[in-house]
Amino acid sequence: MQDTIIMITSVLGIGAVILISMTLIGIAMGKIRDPKLFDMYGPAMGVFFIIFGAIETSKMNKENYAMDTAEYESAVSERLQPFGQIRLSENKVSTLEPAVTETAQPIQTVMTGPEVYNDACLICHGAGIGGAPVIGNVEVWSPRIAQGYETLYRRAIEGYQGDAGYMPAKGARMDLADAEVQAAVDYMVSQSAN
Ligand code: HEC
Repeated sequence: MQDTIIMITSVLGIGAVILISMTLIGIAMGKIRDPKLFDMYGPAMGVFFIIFGAIETSKMNKENYAMDTAEYESAVSERLQPFGQIRLSENKVSTLEPAVTETAQPIQTVMTGPEVYNDACLICHGAGIGGAPVIGNVEVWSPRIAQGYETLYRRAIEGYQGDAGYMPAKGARMDLADAEVQAAVDYMVSQSAN
């Protein structure tokens, strides 16, 4: 605010000096004979310098609030500090946990193997739709089980095209977690081995 006042006064001061010196030069050169001339351009110059001052002042305000200055940034980050942080010294902020630390327990949504099977796999593996190996058919499953769990899990999760047909990734149930699909495979294998 003080800067603004200084600015306005200096602008008006410079304006007045120019105005007076121009008038003196005019008189000296004999161009101003009628003092009424001064009454005409005096106010005009006044208006000019008020406008000039306003422009300068607004420029200065913009500079004051320029958003890319380090000062501005630190002021903003200060405002964005989480409430209740303890200021230990100049640059050290306490990392102490808030007193109340009650962590919400995630709701158990993981389905069991049989649940996943009934929900997502039975549709094909129950009756052998599209060449799907039927659950409980030991003959069909034994060579598949012999491939090892890693292969069965991977193919059930990522899907694959085999000789018998197309196994869609996760039985086309992408909402299932990998662990849920694995549980379903475990269940299918347990029902299909002797
Ligand atoms: C759209 C029908 C379909 C659905 C739904 C489906 N499958 Fe399959 N699945 C198949 C077919 C077809 C095959 C046989 C592909 C082949 O070997 O050619 C297969 C094969 C498999 C195999 C044997 C892989 C191997 O390497 O021999 C496993 C394990 C399996 N499915 C698990 C699952 C599980 C777990 C689900 C449920 C999350 C599921 N499938 C849902 C069609 C399906």
